[in-house]
Amino acid sequence: MSKLSWALIGGGEGSQVGFAHRAAAQLDNNFSLVAGALDVNPDSARAFGISLGLEAARSYGSWRDMLDAEKNVEGDQRIDLVTVATPNSTHFEITKEFLEAGFHVLCEKPLTMTVEEAQALVLIAKASNRICAVNYGYTGYPLVRQMRSMVLAGELGKIRLVVAEFAGGFMADSADAENPRVKWRFNSKHSGMAAITVDCGIHALNMACFITNEKVVEVSSDFASGIKSRELEDDNLSAFRMESGIVGRLWTSGLAIGRTHGLTIQIFGETGGLSWTQEQPNQLSWTPLNKPTCILERGHPDLHLSAQRANRITIGHPEGMVFAFANIYRDLFEVISSVKADTKPHSLALDYPKVEDGCHSIEIVEAMTRSVANKSCWTKV
Ligand SMILES: NC(=O)c1ccc[n+]([C@@H]2O[C@H](COP(=O)([O-])OP(=O)(O)OC[C@H]3O[C@@H](n4cnc5c(N)ncnc54)[C@H](O)[C@@H]3O)[C@@H](O)[C@H]2O)c1
Repeated sequence: MSKLSWALIGGGEGSQVGFAHRAAAQLDNNFSLVAGALDVNPDSARAFGISLGLEAARSYGSWRDMLDAEKNVEGDQRIDLVTVATPNSTHFEITKEFLEAGFHVLCEKPLTMTVEEAQALVLIAKASNRICAVNYGYTGYPLVRQMRSMVLAGELGKIRLVVAEFAGGFMADSADAENPRVKWRFNSKHSGMAAITVDCGIHALNMACFITNEKVVEVSSDFASGIKSRELEDDNLSAFRMESGIVGRLWTSGLAIGRTHGLTIQIFGETGGLSWTQEQPNQLSWTPLNKPTCILERGHPDLHLSAQRANRITIGHPEGMVFAFANIYRDLFEVISSVKADTKPHSLALDYPKVEDGCHSIEIVEAMTRSVANKSCWTKV
């Protein structure tokens, strides 16, 4: 398969997530960065793109200029995938316009600000027959894919309980409340209906769905703002139920000083339990009922095929977050190449997070806000 052309919107110099996208997309030599509109400031956008090796003519001052110029490009020069790594409030418009112009899109989470927008993107992706993925990058970790395969293979028996946490101390400093990189996340104009829940909790919720292959049907939520000047919540404790009756718990917070990143997911079935944490992503704790706990190591040949495919480096040498993102890019490379060649990709490449997953997460968060408005009453998604 030949290399694909890739463009990045947002993810400019100093942004939190830009480096991870640039490193991940190019890790396997599958994508070449050919165009970009990398910063909200047009001069910085153009200069940063050129510093990354873009031709001056394809390093744009705005995503609209990029769209206008690139939509008519055909052949080898045409962009195969556009990544949207801008703040939340811009995701809908940019993703919509690029899908409608016939591009495949990988959009950062949260997919949109509202359920209506998310549902519209599902329809637009379908109508335009383009791939629309959402960067739930943690689902790219080999051992997260192993968890899904173990659950789907019935190795834990019927799943009873999922405990999902994404609680760290990264938003705990009240002195940071005015920092522009932090402030937008707690403002409804820029972040949407929730803050820590769409910034962090949404990953944990998506992982609960990805691993169990189920949707969330009902929630009961309690939001709090530990830093009072914040319009939106910086802590959320929610109970939820999934389609088959799985009992779910979510805790997401920016106030948990001492916890560094804080993404942990535990799955408890009738015959075993799994526990995985993002800060030690190369080990998965597995406890069969009435047996001692064992550690499954990334890279071991006994793991499921899904985990083997997502692995790159020999067992014992740690892989990390860029590698997980790179697995989303590798899936998209396979799927987009198959679309171009009119062939079928490997079925496991279809495990990349899709627009429908992004939409479902927004529907869950919206139900959580209704629950909060209704004294934490159980609320249907
Ligand atoms: N998947 C993940 O693990 C993960 C991690 C971090 C952030 N994110 C998501 O990525 C997005 C960006 O977050 P961040 O933390 O990098 O934000 P940030 O504020 O650090 O950086 C945002 C970047 O986008 C640029 N930008 C803003 N508006 C733009 C526009 N209209 N056109 C072009 N560029 C524009 C800014 O100049 C900056 O370079 C958010 O939606 C966030 O939720 C996802």
